[in-house]
Amino acid sequence: MDNLPLTYCIRTHAGLESHVADDLSKFLEIEVIKQSHRTLFISSQEPIEKFLHLKSIDDVFILVGNFYDLSNKRDSLDTMRSQALSFPINEYVNLCALNRKIDLEKGFSITASFVGKRNYNRWEIADALREAFSKKLSSQYLDTNNKSLPDHDIHFRAHLDDDVGWCGIRLSKAPLSKRGYKRVHLEGSLAPQIAHMMVKFVRPAFGDVLIDPMCGAGTIVHESSSFEGIQSIGVDISPQALMASHENRPTRSRASLFMLGDARNLPFKDSSINCIVCDMPWGVQTDLKNEIGRSMQLDYYVLLDEFRRVLSQNGRMVLLTEQKDLFEDAIKDVELSIRDTTLVSVFGKQPTLYVLHVE
Ligand SMILES: C[S@@+](CC[C@H](N)C(=O)[O-])C[C@H]1O[C@@H](n2cnc3c(N)ncnc32)[C@H](O)[C@@H]1O
Repeated sequence: MDNLPLTYCIRTHAGLESHVADDLSKFLEIEVIKQSHRTLFISSQEPIEKFLHLKSIDDVFILVGNFYDLSNKRDSLDTMRSQALSFPINEYVNLCALNRKIDLEKGFSITASFVGKRNYNRWEIADALREAFSKKLSSQYLDTNNKSLPDHDIHFRAHLDDDVGWCGIRLSKAPLSKRGYKRVHLEGSLAPQIAHMMVKFVRPAFGDVLIDPMCGAGTIVHESSSFEGIQSIGVDISPQALMASHENRPTRSRASLFMLGDARNLPFKDSSINCIVCDMPWGVQTDLKNEIGRSMQLDYYVLLDEFRRVLSQNGRMVLLTEQKDLFEDAIKDVELSIRDTTLVSVFGKQPTLYVLHVE
């Protein structure tokens, strides 16, 4: 398989598919084959280890085969089973093993999903594939239904849409969105891959100071530590959030600082900050009964005015909020221009990601 282009299935959040495609093509030679809901199919001859370091996506799979001629009838399970028998999965396992240790004895797992109504469920799809793959891999199937799934190295994902489907093997051991630094999780914490994408959107340059004025467990600040030469500062009104930010600090993020403070009255001089990246509290994931919760019913005008005060000339902001109307009303009164908006799917909600520049 050396030198042959491989097809990758890149999983992302709904709304970010084309941004991920644009972003990947900036530093990898790729050809986008197809873009569908939450999945990007690309072809590339780049070394596969380059795909192991992508931080702004949920997960990456190498395509091992396609399903076709499927219907909503149960005999499609047999069709998939026999098609899966022709997938050269051992070759793909060997490819993955070039970059990480794979112990076949630990077994393998399968996640299946589909769109539309079918007379079979996702467990039955996984079961059909299990029969085909166990024969080929001489490895034991681990039931993904089992909550205490033992540690294992091989995971397949299958997805069916209409009369076709795809099956891929996860390139890495765990999903790429899983971060080693996440020791403490706070309710409402942002997914690291979205935080990473938000930092990319703000285009931080060497020497820039970036702040997250409502940093929670510090995800945005922590993600920004992989961008070279910037200083990142997290501010939060909650001491508990700051403790979580400290606990979660990755070892390499020496340049990041965390401060107790109020986003409506930031402890920074006028025009001293180059980038602001923030996932605003939406009220839904937070407890409005306590004092901090109540302070989250924010006045967007006050906040945006304060953010504008601390931003430098050519300053940039990337903000995520679900309260589109309130936010857009407030933005009219502040000297900031909206450069881009993207509707993203997060926590089953549809917040908007705004890219704003100082006018
Ligand atoms: C949606 S959470 C941020 C989540 C964060 N991005 C993360 O990944 O953990 C919103 C945060 O805003 C903070 N917050 C609410 N009102 C604030 C204010 N007036 N000033 C500073 N922080 C505030 C809350 O304490 C909470 O941690």
